[in-house]
Amino acid sequence: MADATGNQDSKDYGLGIPQKTEGFFLKGCGNLEWGMKDRLSRIFNKKSGRTVMLAFDHGYIMGPTSGLERMDLTIVPLIEHADCIMCTRGALRQIVPASSNKPISLRASAGSTVLTDLNDECLLDIEECIRVNASMLALMVAIGSKYEALTIRNLTTMVDQGSRYGIPVLGVTAVGKELVRDARYLSLATRVCAENGAHIIKTYYCSPDFEKVVAACPVPIVIAGGKKLPELEALQMAFEAIDQGAAGVDMGRNVFQAEHPVAMIQAVKAVVHDNLKPKDAFALYNDLKNKKS
Ligand code: 5RP
Repeated sequence: MADATGNQDSKDYGLGIPQKTEGFFLKGCGNLEWGMKDRLSRIFNKKSGRTVMLAFDHGYIMGPTSGLERMDLTIVPLIEHADCIMCTRGALRQIVPASSNKPISLRASAGSTVLTDLNDECLLDIEECIRVNASMLALMVAIGSKYEALTIRNLTTMVDQGSRYGIPVLGVTAVGKELVRDARYLSLATRVCAENGAHIIKTYYCSPDFEKVVAACPVPIVIAGGKKLPELEALQMAFEAIDQGAAGVDMGRNVFQAEHPVAMIQAVKAVVHDNLKPKDAFALYNDLKNKKS
């Protein structure tokens, strides 16, 4: 216990040594509050500045998506390999062991399914997000769709609420079927999310000119995987995105629908964190899958 009597005189003032002021390793995040930086540092690897997020929130709009029928069997073994998991509060409580201790990008918007009009969404209660210890709040932003105004309002509300408690927001650019996923559209959508306060943006990779999308977005971008591709192609896409400045992936189907998901997530990690070339990462995938039971 601190004792007021008999205290030694203070003497170690480090005179002449300037106090270090640490910068922050993520683009556009230097002026964030301490709690936000702490949460982002749990999601992104400080050494590589990147992240491999495992997305399995698809059921909230698509029901039992292929590979997610039994998340206790297919997703739980992948969790230890991910830097962060992206899921709904339902999946979190139902199948994710609380002892996993992974940062959570919580799906914090909901409202419609593939059977009706997507993106007509509302937001989860911020207290519920805090209750499950979310490290990031993810919501749809549907630029150019009928629900553009609604989802941008949702974004501003979520940023206000997250800022109150030091929780960053992931703007997920929901691209409708009628829109083209090219650099022109994705630049607009990602920039609108960033200007409205999203701390991290999830969008799709595009070719050509993905590097222009990244350059014009003042905060880190992570890419969604999209529909299942052959494993080598998925690794190639991840490589190109990282090579052109993406700060990581938030991948779902290309991991959990792979022939060997545990091997695939490790191969993706090698691309994202170690800059492994696609062919080498594919060789790693084959090596790991042959070792698996
Ligand atoms: C849509 C999402 C998914 O999490 C996202 O699409 C990532 O998954 P995939 O890599 O399968 O595209 O935000 O609900």
